Amino acid sequence: MCTSRSKGVFITGASSGIGQACAEVLGASGHAVHGTSRHRRADGAHRRMTVLDVTDEAFVHRAVATVLGAEGRLDVVVSCAGFVMAGAVEDVSIEEAQRQMDTHFFGVLRVCRAVLPAMRAQRSGHIEATLLSPGEVRTHVRQYRERARCSGPGSAYQDAFERVMNVVESGEGAGIAPEQVARKVLALVERQHVDVRCSVGHLSQRAAWVSKRLLPARTFEHIVMSLHGLSRR
Ligand SMILES: NC(=O)c1ccc[n+]([C@@H]2O[C@H](COP(=O)([O-])OP(=O)(O)OC[C@H]3O[C@@H](n4cnc5c(N)ncnc54)[C@H](OP(=O)(O)O)[C@@H]3O)[C@@H](O)[C@H]2O)c1
Repeated sequence: MCTSRSKGVFITGASSGIGQACAEVLGASGHAVHGTSRHRRADGAHRRMTVLDVTDEAFVHRAVATVLGAEGRLDVVVSCAGFVMAGAVEDVSIEEAQRQMDTHFFGVLRVCRAVLPAMRAQRSGHIEATLLSPGEVRTHVRQYRERARCSGPGSAYQDAFERVMNVVESGEGAGIAPEQVARKVLALVERQHVDVRCSVGHLSQRAAWVSKRLLPARTFEHIVMSLHGLSRR
């Protein structure tokens, strides 16, 4: 239950990885945490779990109503629900791209739309105002990653795709612990004034985040391609 100092926090995708770490770290710090998963999961020491699929609007409204019923208010939303659809543009079908967008983009939009009326009524709340860009993080993202159906044998991009995936997956294996992202989220939740955009991760990845803003787009793209073993033909 929320107290005068703790906040009501709603975390999507809290059964694994970054979301799970956020639920543990924020819950252990005294915030009233409600996490979500598409599957029924046991409550943890510091979090209550609610069933939610962010691609289903009715589900989203039910889950938000459950949390509001329990806490009476909702102060923070942390959107971590997601999966990655991997493949070259030509290999990813429209149906596969739509599934990705339905979770990563429209899923966030559905949750925001469901929560905003309560935040507007209570005249406070932190939602979507901060875009936290993590570098690579050691989570289960690889296990749940989907490869586009046409990305295998027969694809014109198969070699390049496999090279990129090797770089991405070894980067994830050497990534920061999800708890490091969670501590950054906790700091944001407890600060009075928060940044609109910020990053967390290894220094080299945070440097890339800054470089993208400073370097000409073509130069930045060239560096990223080289790092992934790709070259312009
Ligand atoms: N790991 C990285 O290096 C990294 C870097 C940058 C950004 N990200 C992004 O950060 C987010 C979290 O990633 P992670 O690494 O923590 O991945 P993860 O360990 O695979 O966790 C993903 C979470 O999302 C939930 N989920 C998936 N589809 C959902 C849906 N339709 N509705 C509701 N929940 C759903 C999963 O829960 P259930 O299966 O239990 O429903 C799980 O709790 C993702 O959006 C990912 O793209 C990750």
